[in-house]
Order: sequence, then C-alpha cells, then structure tokens
Amino acid sequence: MQPDVLMIEPLTPEAERQLDNAYRVHRLFQTGDPAKLVAEIGPSVRAVVTGGGHGVSNAIADALPALEIIAINGIGTDAVDLERAQARGVRVTTTPGVLTEDVADLAIGLMLAVSRRICVADRFVRAGSWPSARPPLSAKASGKRLGIFGLGHVGRAVARRAEGFAMPIAYCEPQPVAEVSYRFVPDLKTLAEESDFLVVATSGGAATHNLVDRQVLDALGPAGILINVARGSVVDEAALVAALAEGSLGGAGLDVFAHEPEVPKALWAMDNVVLQPHRASATVETRRAMADLVLANLAAHFAGREPVTPVV
Ligand code: 8YV
Repeated sequence: MQPDVLMIEPLTPEAERQLDNAYRVHRLFQTGDPAKLVAEIGPSVRAVVTGGGHGVSNAIADALPALEIIAINGIGTDAVDLERAQARGVRVTTTPGVLTEDVADLAIGLMLAVSRRICVADRFVRAGSWPSARPPLSAKASGKRLGIFGLGHVGRAVARRAEGFAMPIAYCEPQPVAEVSYRFVPDLKTLAEESDFLVVATSGGAATHNLVDRQVLDALGPAGILINVARGSVVDEAALVAALAEGSLGGAGLDVFAHEPEVPKALWAMDNVVLQPHRASATVETRRAMADLVLANLAAHFAGREPVTPVV
C-alpha cells in the first residue's frame, strides 16, 4: 500500500504530481478544517512534507503516531522540534545547497531596491508623475559598508556578491570563520554601528530570537538599512516598526516576518521599506531542485535506504 503523506504546504505542481503517483497525499493547506483532517488520517500518516517557515507543530506531530519522516522543502529547521523527532526516531530532511544563491540574490536585490528606491521610483512612473516632477535622489549602494549577521552558506553568498559592489564586508558569528578574510565582529551592536547595510542571514529559533533589537537598530542608525532574508523571529518586529516610524532607522528590505503571512500594517505605507512575501528561494529552477530533494529523501526512506540529505 502507498504510504500516507501529510502535506503542510504545497510543492511545485510537477512535484505534487510525482508525489500523488507514489503516495496517498493529504493536503492540510487545502482543507477548511485541519484539525478534522489530522484526526481522520493522523494514525496512518508516515511522512510529513512541509516548508521551512511552517515546519510542523508538536501538536500535529504528536497526532501522527506512525510518523517516520519529516521532509522539509527548505533549509530552516527552526519550526520542527528536532530533539523530539530524534527521541521518537523520526527522520528530518532539508534541501541544502540548492537555494543558497537565490536567497543571496534576493538579499542583494533588496539592498539595491531599498537604497536606490527602485520600487518607489516604479510607483512614481506608473502614477504618471515623471512629466511634471522628479523623484528625490536615492542613496548610493556601491562601496557602502556591509555587515552580515550569520556567515553560513547564504551569508557567504551575499558577501561574494557584495565584493563586486566594492563593499567592505564584516560579519558577526560567535566564532571567527576560518576560511574567509572578511572582518570578524563578535558583537552584533558593534557590527550594526559599523555598517550601512545589515543583512540578517542567520538561522531562526530560540538561540537567535529577537537578537536584532532596538539597540542594534539604533546602532545601524538613520542612514542604515536592515535586510532580512532569514527568519522574522530574529528581529524584534515591534522595535523595527518603531525605529522606522521614528526615523532612527533608514530603511528595511524584508522577505520574512514574525507572524507570516501577517505584515505589520505600519510598514505598508513606508516608502523606505521593501516588502516580499517570503520568496527568496521561489524561482522555478530552485523550487524544482528543492522539490527533487524532497522526493528523493522520501523515496530513499521508503525504499529502506538512508535519506539523501538528513539532519536527524
Ligand atoms: C522556503 C525557507 O521559502 O529554506 C527555508 O527554510 O524558509 C524557504 O526557503 C520555504 O521552505 C518554502 O516554504
């Protein structure tokens, strides 16, 4: 019999077709009553497919007694209780390697969009304002100081791109990263003080919760720009909104938020903010590669082999 799979969020249509061919797929995101679906099919579910942002709650995981594997379509594991999974003998897999470049591309895109006011100028043209007015000058991006919070794969890919923009690069990590020559700054507030752009590229979860707080934002300052392509949980969102509203932070480019898909209404009206709906990895090519890894992990597991990219 085909194993039962609970999907918490969609994959690409092609990957879902492949999933449908090999498994009995139950789509939590399509039901009006998720609790009812989990109660009905929970006992037979052997695999969960989810995204990095949604993960799977302990309440749902606990209602799946036959669960064997959680296949995350992403690299973040902060929304899955890894210790609990390990204790239950549930495997957890991610999609490492394939989304790094896209996330870094969007980080750079947001840096340019905010500093050069690309979205504001686009709205200016579409409003028919060009013949009668000129938009205000924007801020230069090339040569500005870049601080990267979290120099993992994504952080390093951002840094490589920033080298092409002649940006002096510094980073904050608990320990210096051996194989890079960028400047190591152990204290996040100091990094913010010494940066024009601060890019958040660290993991989410309890260890980084709200580490970008009001003090860090104030240190970044009225000309500074915060970019977040990591997790909304890393930034104190109320402090961010307040700092932007008061003008003590220059601008922000945000792909992730504390309570997605909720985006604080105050941000909607701010011209110095560019907002994205958590789509840094959302390109055709990358989502295909990610889904291929999800499918490969499930296939290996149900064939009795080791998953391709396990974290637990
Ligand atoms: C995806 C992510 O948007 O990799 C992650 O952890 O959050 C993103 O790449 C997500 O996993 C798909 O929902």
